[in-house]
Amino acid sequence: MQITVTVNDDSFTREIEPRLLLIHFLRDDLGLTGSHWGCDTSNCGACVVWLDETPVKSCTVLAAMADGHRVRTVEGLAARGRLDPVQEGFARCHGLQCGFCTPGMMLTARWLLDHNRDPTDEQIREALSGQICRCTGYENIVRAVRWAARHEGTGGGAGPGPGGSGGTGPGATGPGPTANEVTW
Ligand code: FES
Ligand code: FES
Repeated sequence: MQITVTVNDDSFTREIEPRLLLIHFLRDDLGLTGSHWGCDTSNCGACVVWLDETPVKSCTVLAAMADGHRVRTVEGLAARGRLDPVQEGFARCHGLQCGFCTPGMMLTARWLLDHNRDPTDEQIREALSGQICRCTGYENIVRAVRWAARHEGTGGGAGPGPGGSGGTGPGATGPGPTANEVTW
């Protein structure tokens, strides 16, 4: 069957097998290997991408289900050469070690901040509760999201997701936050 999917604002038309999972379509057909394939059982969350406006575990979504829809992957977080505040927060607050969980964590965090600009630690943990990190103990991931929430609109980062209402906007200007602004 043929599908056409808009991924990170680019349209792709491909012939696929109907049984193909979205994670494999992204990684193998489109070469977007930022989304990771971990458990394949909907447990780890490493494969989280956005389908239209909603984070989904792409190991449980058929590529055919994305036909005519928009997908956002970690490759689409940065815009115009600027990191999304979520990406910058993970870097500054050491929110990763091996990085395997990180793309999914960041996509979910971006969604959270688009819907709640000032989440509590409890809300951050709840939003990320469907995703497993084997390395960090989660504390620095929460710090990273908190950092991003504090620095939305300060110059770094991409704009809102596809149709999203939050984010800093692709036209954001000015210098990004400096290292000594990192507080937690
Ligand atoms: S690979 Fe999809 S949830 Fe683990
Ligand atoms: S940083 Fe290694 S699994 Fe999260």
